[in-house]
Amino acid sequence: MLTISNLHAGYGKVEVLHGISLEVPKGKVVTLIGSNGAGKTTTMRAISGMIAPSSGSITLAGKDIAGKESYNIAKLGLAHSPEGRRVFATMTVNDNLLLGAFPRFTGSRPKGDIQADLERAMEYFPRLKERRTQLAGTLSGGEQQMLAMARAMMMNPEVVLLDEPSMGLAPILVEEVFRIIARLRQEGVTMLLVEQFAAAALNVADYGYVLENGRIAVHGPAEKLRSDPAVKAAYLGGH
Ligand SMILES: Nc1ncnc2c1ncn2[C@@H]1O[C@H](COP(=O)(O)OP(=O)(O)OP(=O)(O)O)[C@@H](O)[C@H]1O
Ligand SMILES: [Mg+2]
Repeated sequence: MLTISNLHAGYGKVEVLHGISLEVPKGKVVTLIGSNGAGKTTTMRAISGMIAPSSGSITLAGKDIAGKESYNIAKLGLAHSPEGRRVFATMTVNDNLLLGAFPRFTGSRPKGDIQADLERAMEYFPRLKERRTQLAGTLSGGEQQMLAMARAMMMNPEVVLLDEPSMGLAPILVEEVFRIIARLRQEGVTMLLVEQFAAAALNVADYGYVLENGRIAVHGPAEKLRSDPAVKAAYLGGH
């Protein structure tokens, strides 16, 4: 569904990604793990068009998207829930979610039943349901994080990029986020997940890639990475 091949990207003259290749098959959850500064967010940004790759190819459902405008990539079905809370502070929770469905209103994505999906999002995230008329800027950090994730799902995307969905959340909410990811996986949602909780990410993923200094160091089925001694020692706290 999403295929990246020999991708080079960075900021200005500084190259961060030195030729990475990865594959997110349809209906699978793939996780990208790595230390702070390894280039995980940069990978997500290059895929969604927030930065232009300097070389390499990125295809979404067979279409070349490398270097295209974010808006056009979104139209092809890529939803990006970026690192940090990116919600529209002066709009309500409900309107933020509807904005996520924008490409469906304009006909650039299949329309489906937007109202039903809105209700489904509220069911997934009961906290958002209780606060649907509240301005997004007045939500707690954790609630904003959930809103960003729910908004990405409202696009009815082909592929979802989730960059640290659990960042800044209290432990109980971290568990909730991972439960939601597991549920989305069961429903067949295709996802590329970046998470600081590498062990938990490998538990919900089918396949994993380890990024070290802008290069893929190891990759393999999630259960294999979970038991790989080097991966365990470096990323799973040795457990
Ligand atoms: N906007 C930017 N301008 C210049 N350099 C940047 C920018 N964003 C990130 N970098 C640099 O690119 C490198 C990779 O950063 P990136 O955010 O992709 O890492 P990451 O793997 O997501 O880390 P973390 O786990 O801390 O989120 C870092 O050295 C960082 O300083
Ligand atoms: Mg990051």
